[in-house]
Amino acid sequence: MFGMLHFRPAKSKDIPGLAILMAACGLYKGKKNDWIYDRLETLFSEKIFLVALKTYFFKTRVVGYYVITTLKTNLDKAEQYMHAEDKPLNKDYAYSGGIGTDPEFRGQNIGTRMKLFAERYLRQKGFKGMYVDIFVNNESSIRIQEKTGFKELCRYFDAKHRPEHPHINVVFMKKFN
Ligand SMILES: CC(C)(COP(=O)(O)OP(=O)(O)OC[C@H]1O[C@@H](n2cnc3c(N)ncnc32)[C@H](O)[C@@H]1OP(=O)(O)O)[C@@H](O)C(=O)NCCC(=O)NCCS
Repeated sequence: MFGMLHFRPAKSKDIPGLAILMAACGLYKGKKNDWIYDRLETLFSEKIFLVALKTYFFKTRVVGYYVITTLKTNLDKAEQYMHAEDKPLNKDYAYSGGIGTDPEFRGQNIGTRMKLFAERYLRQKGFKGMYVDIFVNNESSIRIQEKTGFKELCRYFDAKHRPEHPHINVVFMKKFN
C-alpha cells in the first residue's frame, strides 16, 4: 500500500486499529477483541502510546505502535522487570514498553522512524534519556537500537516474566543530549 506515513501520539479513536495491530504483532495471544480494547483503554491512562499511520486516499490505517512507560510512575515494575538492580535506573529516563510494525509493512524503516519520533517526543516532554529491554535474539529490534544510537547497558537471564520461556534479555540505553 502506498500512501503518506506520519507519526503522532495515539488517540482513543486509534484503539480499534491498535488492537488489531498488536494482535498481529503477537501481543495478547488468546485474548478476545473486547478484552484487548478494555486493556488498551486502561493502559492509555498509564503509558505513552505513539502510532505510525498510513493514509491512502481517505483511509487511515495504524501500521506501527510504540508504548512507553514513565519510570517516575512505574519504577518498581520496570526495575523488577529489568532485573538491573545493580545499575539503578535514572528516574528522568523513559522506559520502552514495546514497539511493533504491521507485518505487511516491515523492512520499510517504520520501526526506526518510530523510534526517532519517540525520541523527539520524549525530549520535548523533558525526559533525559531512555531504556530499552529486548529479547537477545530479536535481531530486528536490536538493529533499531544500534541505528538510533542506543548502547548496550547489560544482559540478564529472565525466567520471571515468561517462566515457560526463560531467556536472555539485553538492556540498551541512550542519554538524550
Ligand atoms: C522489530 C520491528 C518493530 C521492526 O520493525 P520494522 O518496521 O521492520 O523496522 P525497520 O524497517 O526500521 O528495520 C529495522 C531492522 O530490522 C531488520 N529487518 C526489517 N525487516 C526485515 C525483514 N523482512 N527481514 C529481515 N530483517 C529485517 C533489518 O535489520 C532492519 O535494519 P536494516 O534495514 O538497517 O538492516 C518488527 O519486526 C516487529 O514489529 N516485530 C514484532 C514485535 C517485536 O518484536 N518488537 C520488539 C520487541 S518489543
